[in-house]
Amino acid sequence: MKVYVINGPNLNMLGKREVGHYGSGTLADLEVLLRERAVGQELVFFQSNSEGDLISYIQALPPASKVIINAGAYTHTSIALRDALLAVQADFIEVHISNVYKRETFRHHSYLSDIARGVIAGLGFQSYALALRYFLEEQGE
Ligand code: DQA
Repeated sequence: MKVYVINGPNLNMLGKREVGHYGSGTLADLEVLLRERAVGQELVFFQSNSEGDLISYIQALPPASKVIINAGAYTHTSIALRDALLAVQADFIEVHISNVYKRETFRHHSYLSDIARGVIAGLGFQSYALALRYFLEEQGE
């Protein structure tokens, strides 16, 4: 199984940005953690600050790909990202490092949640690790 881990804007700044919300781990640390947990499965990482690049990347995914996506602020703004995920029928889990529901109200709405397989928020890097575990366990069933 191949799982795509897609990170949106400002997530390249992990470790330096708002550590109270996002912790001190970097995007590279996240990748190491997930690769440790991937138990022989293929993980493909992509990060971009550009909405267009994220959309082009998603459009190029094989249909029904397994995706773990933290779209960052585009979660709350981007109908275009939603449409791209729908276009390729991505089987995706929406993740957030911080608990967006404890934060500003504009973070409470997501354009992705109602079309996601599931949503995991507020558990730091474990949000991604648990999403990966879900796909791994589902595949083993
Ligand atoms: C985030 C939450 C978003 O509201 C924010 O814009 C981010 C990161 C998170 O992982 O907690 O960039 O998606």
